[in-house]
Amino acid sequence: MNFHALLRFTHITGFAAWFGTIFATLFLLKTLEPGLTGEQKQAEEHSLLLRRFIKLETKVADVAVISVLFSGLLLAHFYEGWKPWVFAKIGLMILQIALTIGYIIKAIQPIAYPCDAAKYRAWYKLFAISFSMFGVVLLVTFFLR
Ligand code: HEM
Repeated sequence: MNFHALLRFTHITGFAAWFGTIFATLFLLKTLEPGLTGEQKQAEEHSLLLRRFIKLETKVADVAVISVLFSGLLLAHFYEGWKPWVFAKIGLMILQIALTIGYIIKAIQPIAYPCDAAKYRAWYKLFAISFSMFGVVLLVTFFLR
């Protein structure tokens, strides 16, 4: 196995793991919605489950994001070269992280459970932001290079 293959392997596996954790979180949020928007006792139990899940999820996602970033920069440096599409990806990835963290602080962290369905929709907006950014980065990767 050569170094180029190892870097591509890390980059694509890191991306898959990161993408997968977002889907898993979306499914969990959908599953827990009736409890988190329902009565007090159940909302407390479900919000504990949600917090435990997010703790595990962020561990995997953090490692995955760092792997994607690091392997991407090494691929650009050693093999691809610093082309405009590579800079576009770097900018988009920074934007994606800034937008999601900003939205979590502004709209997700202040939610207290149980909450009404309208407030809960903030979660789905977060997924919309995240998946749109993945979509744009993948479009750049496959069609604009
Ligand atoms: C700092 C950020 C990034 C940099 C510098 C970067 C750089 C690169 C480079 C140079 C390649 C070409 C590898 C090769 O064929 O030798 C590549 C491939 C790829 N990147 Fe990234 N990348 C970054 C972030 C991302 C992100 C966030 C995603 C996912 C949304 C992603 C998904 C992919 C995929 C799927 C490929 C494989 C494309 C193919 O096999 O033709 N990258 N990346």
